[in-house]
Amino acid sequence: MQPVSWPNALSQRDLLGIEGLTPDSVASILDLSESYVALNRDAQKKSDVLSGRTLILLFFETSTRTRTSFELAGKRLGADVINISVASSAIKKGETLIDTAMTLNAMHPDVIVVRHPDAGAVRLLANHVNCAVINAGDGSHEHPTQALLDALTIRRHKGRLDGLRVAICGDIMHSRVARSNILLLSMMGSQVRLVAPPTLVPTAIERMGAEVFSDMREGLMDCDIIMMLRLQAERMQGTFVPSTREYFRYFGLDESKLAAARPDALIMHPGPMNRGVEIDSVVADDITRSAILEQVELGLAVRQACLDILGSDKNRETI
Ligand code: NCD
Repeated sequence: MQPVSWPNALSQRDLLGIEGLTPDSVASILDLSESYVALNRDAQKKSDVLSGRTLILLFFETSTRTRTSFELAGKRLGADVINISVASSAIKKGETLIDTAMTLNAMHPDVIVVRHPDAGAVRLLANHVNCAVINAGDGSHEHPTQALLDALTIRRHKGRLDGLRVAICGDIMHSRVARSNILLLSMMGSQVRLVAPPTLVPTAIERMGAEVFSDMREGLMDCDIIMMLRLQAERMQGTFVPSTREYFRYFGLDESKLAAARPDALIMHPGPMNRGVEIDSVVADDITRSAILEQVELGLAVRQACLDILGSDKNRETI
């Protein structure tokens, strides 16, 4: 099966965040992703929508899922895919982000996918290139393709995104996944709750329309979706929790806390998981309730859809 023919879903050249998307564009991206889910389950997985196109992956931070799925997505769509490892590039020799951007731009890529530890760095790079740029995570700011794949996972299980109660639990403060999900899910009509110790909740986050809970059982009460987040120690300056053992006791998802949620509540996690810290293995591995590996499968399809939209002629014609 080949993906459906595609009306342009984005009136923008880049995908830098959920900000800028509309409910209609999100629904269109998810619909196109569905056709890639089907294609990926076929024996013949290749399409040629990006044949002759060049995709550059530029990751300044470690990654397993995001990087592999963008690379595989580009290859399955027929693009030439270049992986730039920051450890072995001229960035290690002191080249600035803008010089790196202009150097890559001189080779006429069609799409650059960037992950960077600083919020705003991906937008800065996008301002210095002529091609489409996709944000694969910038500091604690945004990770739009993660929120899109989470939305696809939820829509597949619950049949809709509106009217759902979603609890995002854990290190909200340092999480770009939380920020992109709050924006996307609120826009699509879900009710978002944030469950975390006060030290891990950014001030004034309620302004984004989410309700904040510091008691996990209260926060999970009657929830349809539970999204767990890792403690992102690499972005922490100082100590935010007394100990991981204590953290697990109050904020780790286990069977006893899970009982507060709806019996059909779906468990999600963007990965990588820290078992025994934010989630217990018993619930993480329960395939009747956990969608964690399905998120990985759907992440590939969502990235194919985003590359299709931003990397093909259809996009160039309408921008
Ligand atoms: C997340 C990230 O990098 O922001 N991981 C991912 O992309 N799947 C979450 C995390 O690192 O904890």
